[in-house]
Amino acid sequence: MSEQPILEVRNLKKYFPVSAGIVHAVDDVSFTIQKGKTLGVVGESGCGKSTLGRTVLHLQESTAGQILFEGKDITHVSRAELTALRRKMQIIFQDPFSSLNPRMSLYQAIAEPLRIMTDAKEKEIEDRVFDIMKIVGLAERYVNAYPHELDGGRRQRIGIARALIMNPSFVVCDEPVSALDVSIQAQILNLMRDIQDERQLTYIFVTHDLSVVKYISDDIMVMYLGQMVEKATTDELFEYRLHPYTKALLSAVPLPDIDHEKKHIELKGEITSPINPKPGCRFAARCPYATERCFKENPVAEEVRPQHFVACHRVRELNGLA
Ligand SMILES: Nc1ncnc2c1ncn2[C@@H]1O[C@H](COP(=O)(O)OP(=O)(O)O)[C@@H](O)[C@H]1O
Ligand SMILES: [Mg+2]
Repeated sequence: MSEQPILEVRNLKKYFPVSAGIVHAVDDVSFTIQKGKTLGVVGESGCGKSTLGRTVLHLQESTAGQILFEGKDITHVSRAELTALRRKMQIIFQDPFSSLNPRMSLYQAIAEPLRIMTDAKEKEIEDRVFDIMKIVGLAERYVNAYPHELDGGRRQRIGIARALIMNPSFVVCDEPVSALDVSIQAQILNLMRDIQDERQLTYIFVTHDLSVVKYISDDIMVMYLGQMVEKATTDELFEYRLHPYTKALLSAVPLPDIDHEKKHIELKGEITSPINPKPGCRFAARCPYATERCFKENPVAEEVRPQHFVACHRVRELNGLA
């Protein structure tokens, strides 16, 4: 038996009504995360990664499904409960430049969550700001600097400091290094991992970058048009990618330590918008293996190897599984 997960998401849906119909941004997604672990969420732009993270955090309300956090059902919460949750559940955004107020100094930006969410006195705020600056690697000389005076790496360190200053237990990291130079990405990823170890933090790490997700995640969930198509531990997934979409996604990126299955699967066409999706597998239109059934029936995720879930009608046949 495994421990009770810190987060459990059951059949989560987030729909957006638009003039052309209903956007099924997240459509029946389920997963669990254990404390101190990282779930990487990957997939092309528009597949619902950010919506998933934002909905779990109650930055927008879910359409259906259930969210359990630390054993408690938080699907519907009162204002007071939401305030309490905000301290425990935080988000780090992709682009710290647009998420930071240009008129706030580094000090003001990092202190802001404390001012909004606590009644801490100025002395305590100051101590905590300087503490967290040290933890995220921001030198004291930058304390009065403004975002435009800092480079991307330092700005993202402010974003991380703002997320951490309330001492949360769970953080959604939404493409936190995608806007950074490659040389700086590694520094920030290492910082996030170190902080995770020290604080037993749990992450959902959203990214479209497969080398990043491989580095940071314990488990990986691959999404396609609002749905989960494959989920497994990181090692398992990179060893055995079973869904045609995962294969295509992974074969599009040269990863130095993958030496088997070099066969390249072309992704035909573009990911479409998940407006009024037709019945059937969402990936069928781009899948080289799609049969008539795939266009009629949406596959349900099945455990095809231990703790390895795949939603594909042909997964066993195509991979020689029993
Ligand atoms: N507020 C919204 N209103 C309408 N559609 C939305 C809204 N937010 C996201 N979407 C749509 O939901 C889908 C998933 O978006 P998103 O979660 O941002 O994807 P990702 O983060 O994977 O790029 C996209 O088709 C997007 O256009
Ligand atoms: Mg996004």
